[in-house]
Amino acid sequence: MSSIGTPAVVMDNGTGYTKLGFAGNDAPSFVFPTAISTSTASSKTSKGGPRSTNLASKRGLEDLDFYIGDEALEAANGPNYSLSYPIKHGQIEDWDQMERFWESSIFKYLRCEPEDHYFLLTEPPLNPPENRESTAEIMFESFNCAGLYIAVQAVLALAASWTSPKVQDRSLSGTVIDSGDGVTHVIPVAEGYVIGTAIKNIPLAGRDISSFIQQLLRDRGEADTSLQTAEKIKEQFCYVCPDIVQEFSKFDHYPKEKFAQYIVEYTDRNKKNIVDVGYERFLAPEIFFNPEICSSDFLTPLPTVVDQVIQASPIDVRKKLYKNIVLSGGSTMFKDFGKRLQRDLKVLVNERIHLSERSSGAQSTGVEVQVISHKKQRNAVWFGGSLLAQTAEFKSYCYTKRDYDEQGPNIVRNFSLFAVP
Ligand SMILES: Nc1ncnc2c1ncn2[C@@H]1O[C@H](COP(=O)(O)OP(=O)(O)OP(=O)(O)O)[C@@H](O)[C@H]1O
Ligand SMILES: [Mg+2]
Repeated sequence: MSSIGTPAVVMDNGTGYTKLGFAGNDAPSFVFPTAISTSTASSKTSKGGPRSTNLASKRGLEDLDFYIGDEALEAANGPNYSLSYPIKHGQIEDWDQMERFWESSIFKYLRCEPEDHYFLLTEPPLNPPENRESTAEIMFESFNCAGLYIAVQAVLALAASWTSPKVQDRSLSGTVIDSGDGVTHVIPVAEGYVIGTAIKNIPLAGRDISSFIQQLLRDRGEADTSLQTAEKIKEQFCYVCPDIVQEFSKFDHYPKEKFAQYIVEYTDRNKKNIVDVGYERFLAPEIFFNPEICSSDFLTPLPTVVDQVIQASPIDVRKKLYKNIVLSGGSTMFKDFGKRLQRDLKVLVNERIHLSERSSGAQSTGVEVQVISHKKQRNAVWFGGSLLAQTAEFKSYCYTKRDYDEQGPNIVRNFSLFAVP
């Protein structure tokens, strides 16, 4: 088979961003918004919902009139294209749009022939098995890809953390905090298996933080208050502080160091705007630690959620879950995010130990709380996929087109867990 010597394709399609590239590489070749713009003139524009037919049977000229990624955002600025995001809260919701999105990702961006490559795709925790089947149907029937493996994002994030010097063994046990654009998941994993009953989702992630900044820019009447500008400010200027009262006073005492300016340049207009950047530098990511700042529905701080998740996991794995708390995703990239999480979580754990020592009279041996930040954190899921899919064993864990044809689509409901040498 011609796929034997070719690297596997690794695709991590997130709510906000798609990470795309080849196994064995250090970083994805492409990172772009998981957005698609289709022509409003096209009679075949998808209405979303369940998958209808595969691409081969509906491919017409008008069906090729679409853009993905940054080009999609640009096209949607004009009158003739409408923009959609086929993934919501981590799960694919619009299969027809997703199929077009993958088609362009493979042929226009990666420029590869799918029948020559195995594919590693990722899924959020607790993804319904039917979604795996729909994914396989597109990959095998529309694209004829050579082989397929669908991995749980949290498990890949654990594999990515092996690059950190703090991680001594290549363990697949730990608590993953994956915070991207649409949702923050706290996922306990024991020996590569997600402890589904203990997972918690926090409905606050990157997009909410950008919207919070956007609102502050609007309240101050800044010259540019677009969501894109708010997002850029967030990525360039925000950090997590140890104490917000002290941080406000630092801004008062050292305004030159603390206040900043962001210059917005417009490629299509010969013009610039200057936007002042103030308290949002530390207030925006503080949402994770004091959610009442921006939300009236969800009020539990992230460190408390992490503690609840570990306490809801089986007692024999809790030690490992506290010791290996691994960060993953763009919204964990704020400076000192891991440091603050570790500090606040330690306080909670020590309080509980203290109480139990007082009531039982017995001395505890303590619990080690360690939050792992590492260099591959931004695209940890993709990088973990790249690590696993480059091993010699990878292909033996995949289903091939032949397996799919011979045994039927429901074989992809379960993938064996990857044993890494
Ligand atoms: N340096 C940074 N500091 C803070 N936030 C950042 C940084 N870089 C990227 N982000 C934010 O991370 C988010 C994207 O992260 P990621 O690619 O992990 O999400 P995703 O996989 O698309 O979403 P999800 O995992 O929720 O489905 C965006 O909101 C982006 O603004
Ligand atoms: Mg993600």
